[in-house]
Amino acid sequence: MNHAIAELLSPLTESRRAHSIAVGRRMESIAAFLPAELRADAVTAAYLHDVGYGHPDLGFHPIDGARLLQSLDYSDVVCHLVAFHTAAEVEAGVRGLDASLFDEFRLTDVAGLDAADDFLWWADLSTGPSGEEFTVDERLAEILRRYEPGSVVHTAITQAEPRLRAAVQRASGSM
Ligand SMILES: [Fe+2]
Repeated sequence: MNHAIAELLSPLTESRRAHSIAVGRRMESIAAFLPAELRADAVTAAYLHDVGYGHPDLGFHPIDGARLLQSLDYSDVVCHLVAFHTAAEVEAGVRGLDASLFDEFRLTDVAGLDAADDFLWWADLSTGPSGEEFTVDERLAEILRRYEPGSVVHTAITQAEPRLRAAVQRASGSM
């Protein structure tokens, strides 16, 4: 983890920072299975996937994070991975946010990008809220416990579960 990343993560709560660092390390351990030109960006995005929590603007952390990183000249791939991480589009829908928020971060024609998305979702979903190593089942159960039924995150995770599990399945199959 470089100095710029540590600096960007500094406003996060201690546990979110520990989670972020663990997700970054997990990505480092599997990045070799991605196309070489995506590896560094996948690792950077993994460390910074939740950076938006520390730099709120819209109040929706995947887009806040992606916009922040875009303003700091991080690559389009990094911004894309952060914007779309872990079924962010589903949560945006539950929040009633406009789907067009994602448009500027959509990328086509980047070979291996879908796999990089899957790997980030896998890394996030196999890491507990303070950086613990979790199974996906433990992680989903933990999120559903931490956020009340009827809350945005609880509803979003429930709706997104098939997509989350499919991504994890694809990622595990290609490691
Ligand atoms: Fe997140």
